[in-house]
Amino acid sequence: MMKGVPNYLVALAIIALACSVASAYDPAPLQDFVLQLTLPLMLGLNTPRNTANPLGSNVTLLDVSKILGLNTLGVSLARIDFAPYGLNPPHTHPRATEILVVVEGTLYVGFVTSNPENRFFTKTLNAGDNPGLIVIAKNIFGANPPINPDVLVKAFQLDTNVVESLQKKFM
Ligand SMILES: *[C@@H]1O[C@H](CO)[C@@H](O)[C@H](O)[C@H]1NC(C)=O
Repeated sequence: MMKGVPNYLVALAIIALACSVASAYDPAPLQDFVLQLTLPLMLGLNTPRNTANPLGSNVTLLDVSKILGLNTLGVSLARIDFAPYGLNPPHTHPRATEILVVVEGTLYVGFVTSNPENRFFTKTLNAGDNPGLIVIAKNIFGANPPINPDVLVKAFQLDTNVVESLQKKFM
């Protein structure tokens, strides 16, 4: 933890579906009027969310169900609050491109490329950094170099020996 960083870390991930790719977009978007626009979750953006859970993170999704104006736009937003050493488990975003912005604190991020290399790229981001990463998490147990087993233990809620055994099998 860096000196001066508050006891919670906030990252704002903006997930935008790739509208320019035909297969990534609703085939016939139709929206003439937005009858109601409420932004309840946008209010109080500087209020930390409760991160006292096994992952040490809290995802607040802002999608069309909360911001009606997003209807047919193929865009959703997520705010993620992290406790110190909290994590967002390895995941994929089918048919989507992800933009991530660190608003406050320091965040260790990474992704694994697709088969056959399964190469693990990683970087530590600081406030204001925006790497535009695309996360591909297939075969994370065989990532090269390997993902820290502590991360996998927490993300998948597994025992350390199970994670080590899986990493041995996939490497
Ligand atoms: C996220 O934070 C909100 C507000 O602090 C809280 O109501 C909710 O239970 C938290 N969710 C998780 C999964 O911890």
